[in-house]
Order: sequence, then C-alpha cells, then structure tokens
Amino acid sequence: MTNRIITDEKAELILDGKTYHLPVIMGTEGEKAIDIKSLRAQTGYITMDSGFMNTGACCSSITFLDGEEGVLSYRGYGIEELAENCTFVEVSYLLDNGCLPSQEQLSNFSQMLGKYAMIHEDMIRFFDGFPPNSPPMAILSSMVNSLCSFYPDMLDNPLENIDKMAARLLSKVRTIAAFSYKKSMGQPLVYPRHDLSYCANFLNMMFDSPVKPYEVDDTVVKALNKLLILHGDHEQNCSTSTVRVVGSARVNLYASISAGINALWGPLHGGANQAVMEMLDKIHMEGGNFKKYIERAKDPNDPFRLVGFGHRVYKTHDPRARIIKKACEDVLNALNVKDPLLDIARELEAVALSDEYFIERNLYPNVDFYSGIIYRAIGIPTNMFTVMFALGRLPGWIAHWKEMWDDPDWRISRPRQIYVGHKRRPFVPIERRTGCV
Ligand code: SDX
Repeated sequence: MTNRIITDEKAELILDGKTYHLPVIMGTEGEKAIDIKSLRAQTGYITMDSGFMNTGACCSSITFLDGEEGVLSYRGYGIEELAENCTFVEVSYLLDNGCLPSQEQLSNFSQMLGKYAMIHEDMIRFFDGFPPNSPPMAILSSMVNSLCSFYPDMLDNPLENIDKMAARLLSKVRTIAAFSYKKSMGQPLVYPRHDLSYCANFLNMMFDSPVKPYEVDDTVVKALNKLLILHGDHEQNCSTSTVRVVGSARVNLYASISAGINALWGPLHGGANQAVMEMLDKIHMEGGNFKKYIERAKDPNDPFRLVGFGHRVYKTHDPRARIIKKACEDVLNALNVKDPLLDIARELEAVALSDEYFIERNLYPNVDFYSGIIYRAIGIPTNMFTVMFALGRLPGWIAHWKEMWDDPDWRISRPRQIYVGHKRRPFVPIERRTGCV
C-alpha cells in the first residue's frame, strides 16, 4: 500500500475562460504532484510530456532519489550504508519485502536461493541453439522468458507464489548468466554449489575450470556484492517502467522481467557500462587523447555523447558513481591490477567537470562510468557488463512488479497522444495511385 498524502493545496488551471482546481498529493519526502487523473474528463485536455520528464507514473515505497542533492535510499536506508554493511542477498530481501531480514529470515532466503540455483537441463540445450556470438542480453531475455514454459504453475496465481518466483528468478538468472559465459568460451559448465554465497557462487560458476580450480577472493566477493547492491533499484528508470508497463496488463513476472532486460540493453540505459569501456579502450588505443571526445560530446552536430556522463534525475554527482570510483581503487590495489583505463577515466572526469558545457548542463559521471573497470579487473568480459547490471537490478524490478499488483490505483498502462497526421481523406483504388513519394 502506498503512503501518499492528499494535501489541502489545489492547482488552479484556467482553460478557455474556465477555472479548474486539481488536487495536489505529497510523498513522505515532501515531493509534490498535481493529480491529473480527472483532467481530460473535466477539461477535454490531456498533457504532453515526451520522455515523461515531469510525469509521475505511480506512487512507490521502494526507492527514493533526490537528483538535486544526489541522495539514493532503498526502503528508507541510505545506499552508502547498505553498500558498506550488507550483502546483495540482504538488500534483495529488503527491496522485495520492505524490511531488512533477521538472521533467520536471511538464512531461509539464502536456502531458497540455493534450492533454485539449478536450471532445467532442457534449458541448457537452448544455449547450443544460439549462434556463437549471440549478444548475452539477447540470451538472457530469451532464457528468462522461457521460465514461463518450465514453471507454468507459477503463472496462474502469481501473488501466491511470488516469494518462490522471486527466489527462483534471482538464483536462476545468476546461473543463466554464468552458463552463457561458459558456453561462449567453449568451456564446460560449472554448476552452482550450496556451500558458496550468492556472489562467490556466481564467480565460481564463471571462472572455475577442471584444469584450474577458482580461488574465491573475499575482496572480489565484497566488491561484487557492492556493485550489485548499487544497481539494485532506481525508481522509475526506463527498464523498471517497462516491467511495470508490461506487468500492468497482468503479464506474469518472468515475461515482465524479460521485457525489462531488453529495455536495459539500450546504450542510453544499462548498455552504457559496456559503451564506457569501449570508449575508454578506444581512447587508450589512440594514445590517451580524450580531449577530442569531450569536444565531440559538446558538438551539437555530432550525435556522440560522453557515455557514463549525465542523468535524467541526478543533476549533481550520482552517489553510486562516487562509491564505485572508490571501490575501483580499492579492488585494483587489492588485486594489484594496474588498469590504464582507470587513469584515463579519472582525467576525463576531471577535465569534463571543469568544462562549462558539462557544468551548465549538470552532467556528472553516472553509475556506468566506473563500474566496467571493476568488472574487467574481476575478469568479466565487456559484453557481459550489461548482464551484470541486469543481475543487480533484478530485485528492484521484482519489487516494482509486486508493488503494482497491490496498488489500489493500478490501471493498465495506456498513455494518450495528440494526432498530427492526415485529416480524413478519400480512399484511392490501387490503379489510380502514384505511390508514396
Ligand atoms: C542509467 O534513469 C535512471 O535511473 C537510469 C540509471 C538506472 O540506475 O536505472 O541511472 C542507469 O541509464 C544511467 C545513464 C547511462 N547512459 C549514459 O551514460 C549515456 C550518456 N548519457 C546521456 O545519453 C544522457 O545523459 C541520458 C540519456 C542519461 C539522460 O538524458 P536526458 O535526461 O534526456 O538529458 P538530455 O538528453 O535532455 O540532455 C540535456 C542536455 C542536452 O544538451 P542541449 O540539447 O541542452 O544542448 O545535456 C546534453 C544533451 O545533449 N547531454 C550530454 C550528455 N548527456 C546529456 N551531452 C554530452 N554527453 C552526454 N553524456
């Protein structure tokens, strides 16, 4: 249930000489919105807001962002404290259940994740059907959607089984990601183990091999937990909104999440972490001259954007980017890894943040700017970086899908539009047509 507050305030609207008053609602952190649900019925008008820059789709109790102050919290807990003190499994429980788990709740949840870690052996054969260089995000969304076929019982009464479905997804997506990597490398699959934690299990499935057993490094496990936590949720971002829109038609959880995976794939969204590394790699290969990329990013006639910079909501530092940048330095020092891309990223950030173009537009490094450097230090290939984003974002997507089912204001998502095409015109038989010009 959401805790919106109906204020005494009214928004006054004067249209065609008539005055209308629309209710104002307020959230627990003081955010205010004009409730326009009766606008069209009262005035015949709709609003227009491309990209939904100013439009709230719902009230939510999951995540709070303050873009001006650079604040991010999950269920009221600051991201900095969660990233420092929790595991990803703990934060997944928090996002999906609304409270930090007790020790008993956490161990029960961990056991469920262990129980559901395997994927059906018939699913493994799907990997053989994908061409060798299939994009990992295409594989991931297909495999997640196929869970509808392997667990059809879950589709009939979703909310009754939501905890089982959530644990199944969180655990199997990790296995699917690791298996798709092993398949792409032509290496034997490494199955999940009950004696390893969530992140240690993933790393072991990714990097263990019959000829060289993988040694789980606590620094790497801690860094991966932190990265996944930082990607856990981010209110109504593009992919989460997609999960909500698809789920609003009463689509099951697996298919809704599969749609979210595809939205995240975009280079303007979750695909940016991979694009950042490709950009930094290119700068490195060209001798480190990043200034031309800054000039290209500023050129209104050049479609190039400085990936990893800018954000729809944050108009100051993305708090996640600050934490990841620090974790970058810690992990690379602990692993004794020297990555020239980190030096290039630091210098590029410093120069951009002192450039009027970026300052005027409040463009700062976002969550994607440094994350790839850690993934690379861990040994994760660049084309799997967005898969890692999806792994982290999964508990957030699940939490929003669940919240929507409980929302008393829930409607199927169906925006309006303003038609700007041809006015009505007479039909032309094909023999008299001259064709489209
Ligand atoms: C994520 O929404 C979320 O919460 C997303 C996310 C999450 O956790 O789910 O935080 C994850 O998607 C992070 C963003 C990853 N994407 C990138 O790093 C791609 C590069 N960034 C940009 O494409 C852009 O900043 C967006 C897409 C992130 C935001 O776009 P907006 O809000 O629509 O901003 P805009 O396009 O209106 O830009 C405003 C101005 C424009 O200049 P003017 O027309 O005013 O002259 O800023 C410029 C833009 O050209 N601008 C950039 C820029 N980002 C914005 N110019 C150069 N480089 C950039 N990166």
